[in-house]
Amino acid sequence: MASSDELHKRRQAAVARGVGSTVTSYVDRAAGGTITDVEGREWIDFAAGIAVSNVGNAAPRVVAAVREQVERFTHTCFMVAPYESYVAVCEQLNALTPGGFEKRSALFNSGAEAVENAVKIARHATGRPAVVVFDHAYHGRTNLTMALTAKNMPYKHRFGPFAGEVYRVPMSYPLRDGGLDGATAAARAIETVEKQVGAENVAALLIEPIQGEGGFVVPAPGFLPALREWATATGAVFVADEIQTGFCRTGDWFACEHEGVEPDLVTLAKGIAGGLPLAAVTGRAELMDAVHVGGLGGTYGGNPVACAAALASIETMRELDLAAAARRIGSVMTSRLRAIAERDPRVAEVRGRGAMLAVEIVRPGTLTPDPTATAAVSAACHAAGLLTLTCGTYGNVLRFLPPLVISDDELARGLDILDAAFA
Ligand SMILES: Cc1ncc(COP(=O)(O)O)c(C=O)c1O
Repeated sequence: MASSDELHKRRQAAVARGVGSTVTSYVDRAAGGTITDVEGREWIDFAAGIAVSNVGNAAPRVVAAVREQVERFTHTCFMVAPYESYVAVCEQLNALTPGGFEKRSALFNSGAEAVENAVKIARHATGRPAVVVFDHAYHGRTNLTMALTAKNMPYKHRFGPFAGEVYRVPMSYPLRDGGLDGATAAARAIETVEKQVGAENVAALLIEPIQGEGGFVVPAPGFLPALREWATATGAVFVADEIQTGFCRTGDWFACEHEGVEPDLVTLAKGIAGGLPLAAVTGRAELMDAVHVGGLGGTYGGNPVACAAALASIETMRELDLAAAARRIGSVMTSRLRAIAERDPRVAEVRGRGAMLAVEIVRPGTLTPDPTATAAVSAACHAAGLLTLTCGTYGNVLRFLPPLVISDDELARGLDILDAAFA
């Protein structure tokens, strides 16, 4: 087998430079909570392919379902010749997402595509143009989703001009907004919308219930319910982007459930199909069905192999109660991270929920972000065999997203490496 160094040389000659990688080791195989590189070195996985392999890599049920499906048929295009598994995934999503009302779903390939379609549906159903998004938001890399995403570098830099009718308002970010309570932070956002956009022009209010790439920002309690209430009162479609938070990651099936918020539309991807590319928009039947026949779709959306993987993943999450597993992982990790924070003044905050946790790193005694120290801790983790990711508008957040099937031993070993990396 070629070495990582050899593969890296081939990559540099073949792969566009704009596609980056966190580490320079190349993967041979991965299972459960670990990844093995081509040198035979085992990594503990605190990344889960960016919150994707919630059921673990090569999860047995997913592997069996995919095998069986590829032998039956690989693709017909649901828009040409439909099949049961697409319908079954939509039934599951309609039942699992928050809200007791009648729902419909449509399937796509990537998170960005789901977000684009949620905006299309909201605009079509309301006849209004504007989309309201938040500081620090991340919604993808396509033209519309770049406009919805807050951070310039690396996502937007020199890729404009961007789509119009997108309006950004302040987020609730307790560490950095002086600890504004949720209702006050929501009132601030709403005032901005009403003054700068006009409530009657808003098609959709789009928000990540816990922000992902923006820094695992958990809004103050009451922020999401107040925005939900405003959307109901003004007729805006409340869209929850649960692409990173979904599928048991935060200790519930979906992060909105934590505060009893029922979105009109939910965008889903990542953890939905155990690593196969699938995404969805799920929501109120009257909004989803407002769109004319043929208005939604795409060649690969709801590919049968991805649908088989999604059904197997959902079954695995149910059977192993991975929401409970996320809560258990969260409580073990939180106490270790708090112990690090207590002795290390560079850690300004430990935050997150369930198995979606992060530490924000600053210059001691200030709130000045320290992306250099963050990168150094992350590099020390990588050198010692722990795969971690950074995020945040200021590049100073170290985030942890282990597969929800990670063993107690793997989790403890990963936390030991992290502890030593800080030391
Ligand atoms: C909250 C959120 N929305 C949208 C996306 C875009 O998803 P994708 O990369 O599958 O297009 C991401 C990806 O990180 C995300 O975290």
